[in-house]
Amino acid sequence: MSIRPIVTVPDPVLREKAKPVRKITPEIQNLIDDMIETMRQAPGVGLAAPQVGVGMQVMVVEYAEGSENADADAEPKPKKLYTLVNPKISRHSKETELGKEGCLSIPDYMGEVERYGTVTVKSLDRHGKSFKLKARGWLARIFQHEIDHLNGVLFIDRTENVWKVEPEEAQEASETV
Ligand code: NI
Repeated sequence: MSIRPIVTVPDPVLREKAKPVRKITPEIQNLIDDMIETMRQAPGVGLAAPQVGVGMQVMVVEYAEGSENADADAEPKPKKLYTLVNPKISRHSKETELGKEGCLSIPDYMGEVERYGTVTVKSLDRHGKSFKLKARGWLARIFQHEIDHLNGVLFIDRTENVWKVEPEEAQEASETV
């Protein structure tokens, strides 16, 4: 496994539609392992293949559900790692939520972005097996942000409310995807 450099704007790979994976080859397995390591090191809670310069429909997410609003007394939930190949949003709620987002490919900026409150995602796992998952709140936001990356869409396309983060208010890893 190795850490790959994270591509930032205005690299054109971030604006291309990623190609579906036809076959899960050793190269794809290697890409997934590298993406997990790169996401953890960044640190971030999600990473899409175009962010390491690869225009393939692969993304990883690692997040402890509910940790964005955990109260101090609550037992922290364990982090869960998700690997998605060729993911699609198959259903989503009508209702949307506004929330703050950052992106590893747009360093030092944040924005307030409207996202669906719940989404159902259909995908293949890293072994090519199909699965479905339902996410809400921040986890749903992360999936929507990463699937956007696979379509060449960045959070700055979805909001006009974007601001530069001052060095003293460093971006929280949990908000960076
Ligand atoms: Ni991002």
